[in-house]
Amino acid sequence: MNETYVHGYHPRENERLQDQARTLVDLLHSDTAYPGGSMVLEVGCGVGAQTVTLAQRSPDARFTSVDVSADSIAEAKRRTDRAGLTNVEFGQADIFALPFNGESFDHVFVCFVLEHLSRPVEALAILKRLLRSGGTITVIEGDHGSTYFHPDSPAAHAAIQCQVTMQREAGGNALIGRQLYPLMVAAGFDVVRVSPRMVYVDSSRPDLVDGFTRKTFTTMIEGIRESAIAAGLIEPESFDAGVHDLHRTTEADGVFCYTFFKGVGEKRRHA
Ligand SMILES: C[S@@+](CC[C@H](N)C(=O)[O-])C[C@H]1O[C@@H](n2cnc3c(N)ncnc32)[C@H](O)[C@@H]1O
Repeated sequence: MNETYVHGYHPRENERLQDQARTLVDLLHSDTAYPGGSMVLEVGCGVGAQTVTLAQRSPDARFTSVDVSADSIAEAKRRTDRAGLTNVEFGQADIFALPFNGESFDHVFVCFVLEHLSRPVEALAILKRLLRSGGTITVIEGDHGSTYFHPDSPAAHAAIQCQVTMQREAGGNALIGRQLYPLMVAAGFDVVRVSPRMVYVDSSRPDLVDGFTRKTFTTMIEGIRESAIAAGLIEPESFDAGVHDLHRTTEADGVFCYTFFKGVGEKRRHA
């Protein structure tokens, strides 16, 4: 992989991905189910946070889940084994060098991966070649520019901006959600449909306060503290004030909003 993977592979990050997946299952997966017998490729499966849900929701589909990180693959395998799933095979592979023949899969699923790539259209075009005619791709990405909250806080926005800047400098794009439609069209997919999936959190939804605002989003920002400071992007006091203000949004009168984007495109049979 050419790009530096900005979130890293620490146990705390693995746990964060699990919290994120658990909290967002219905929002992100409710309309994804694959027919029995279909072959599905999941690229960038990480520690299997989405894989378990995908394979449980489509028990008669066959999943091939790959990631560039061998350690993540090993953890993903442990998780699907623990869940008793037998319809997933894992492999280590880079999205730009996938070891599959063209037209090998009926469907492709990619979640929170394009944001880390400097050549997302090229990656999508590679995935299109692996699809059979009539197949679909599903792509889910976040967009940190969609974050707003109450009480509002310039310090919190500055801490979030550190993540956006670091991801850009690592070759990725933390604002990619808003670009899903043009990226998928540029890669040659047909009938592309993108739907925004907004997470709205207030204290009447304690599961989301804990699972999303605290353990998914704020934990992600906290995780870049040392590198953001080392890169000279922010002073420690300002960063800590921003994180404090993100936690402040989890109090009784706080509100937190974030939007994910889910795109589905087809590979049409062309005459
Ligand atoms: C934020 S994680 C998302 C994991 C999982 N899809 C999820 O939603 O929890 C991004 C994953 O993409 C993987 N990745 C990054 N660049 C990759 C590449 N070039 N080829 C394959 N996987 C890649 C990383 O190793 C990481 O596991």
